[in-house]
Amino acid sequence: MTRRIAINTGGGDAPGLNSVIRSVALSALNRGWEVLGIRRGYEGLLDSPAGVLTLDRERIRGIFHQGGTILGTTNRGDPFRYPVPGPAGEKVPTDLGDQVVARLGELGVSTLVALGGDGSMRIASKLLERGLPRVIGVPKTIDNDLRGTNVTFGFATAVDTTTAALDNLHSTAQAHGRVMVVEVMGRDAGWIALHAGIAGGADVVLLPEIPYRMASIVEKLNQRYRRGPGFAIVVASEGAREVGADPQYKADKDAFSEHATLGGIGPRLAERIQAATGYEARAVVLGHLQRGGSPNSFDRLLAQRMGCAAVRYIEETGDSGMVAQVGGEIILVPFERVVGGTRGVDVACDTVQTARDIGICLGD
Ligand code: F6P
Repeated sequence: MTRRIAINTGGGDAPGLNSVIRSVALSALNRGWEVLGIRRGYEGLLDSPAGVLTLDRERIRGIFHQGGTILGTTNRGDPFRYPVPGPAGEKVPTDLGDQVVARLGELGVSTLVALGGDGSMRIASKLLERGLPRVIGVPKTIDNDLRGTNVTFGFATAVDTTTAALDNLHSTAQAHGRVMVVEVMGRDAGWIALHAGIAGGADVVLLPEIPYRMASIVEKLNQRYRRGPGFAIVVASEGAREVGADPQYKADKDAFSEHATLGGIGPRLAERIQAATGYEARAVVLGHLQRGGSPNSFDRLLAQRMGCAAVRYIEETGDSGMVAQVGGEIILVPFERVVGGTRGVDVACDTVQTARDIGICLGD
């Protein structure tokens, strides 16, 4: 009997999703298997307008370098609290996990390849408990915060985009003698801020893992203005917080979202810096720019290595788990090592030390 697998993409998009879709589909088709693509996370199995596609060679041609996902995605489609219209038309969170398992069974799917972040891996492992025969996860997120892998695809491209923005902001900051405060994504992990901050020549980098003190930022800016450059770049991770304070949120979590929405630290800090130092400050919130665009060569390669490794694991073993880069190789790690938390920056790592050695202020 021909083996049939399905792919879906869940959570926020990240550059490289299409590279994984194409590599999984090609290596499966080259083995004589059939490949289905589920639209918008699990919506394609639960709501008919979304539906399921057959991923043949025609459908996946020319997509490996495109941003976004040809399957679509959502971060409000958890099948265990799926938005189902109630009697008064309001959406009620409903457990449709069993329906997902049943629907994949009807479609003759033996393995689901789930591309996503921590939330998607948690859903995948719960579907296994509900009786789905097999799931292979592929770690996607610009935040780089998944446990069990050293790196996720999408992160390197987001760092490139952020670094290019910092390069552009240098000249305008210098021209006006301003402090430019750049708010970057990453949720509770400071990977994007740290890597782009170093690569893009920031003077101050604020991470969620290192609570900051205003006095430390002000001292660094005064020193920089005294020494001559007369402008500065501050990179603030959206989840960074002052010592003793909470991070800044712009929207609460609701019944269908997994997290409250972070945001607002950039503009707030710019105001406080201007008030405390007298230097003119402006804020730039990079936002979803960091998720868009073509994957860079690192992410294209990583995505395809992970996609092909997923298919090899399906062929050679009966195991479920998430493909992960560990020690330079792609391996399969059990979901128990991935779910239940995220991976922040280790404040003792050499990259943090590099920032300190070159004089970047980390706010502590
Ligand atoms: O997890 C990826 C991410 O881009 C975070 O960095 C950010 O906090 C969040 O998603 C934004 O989500 P949304 O797509 O709901 O705006």
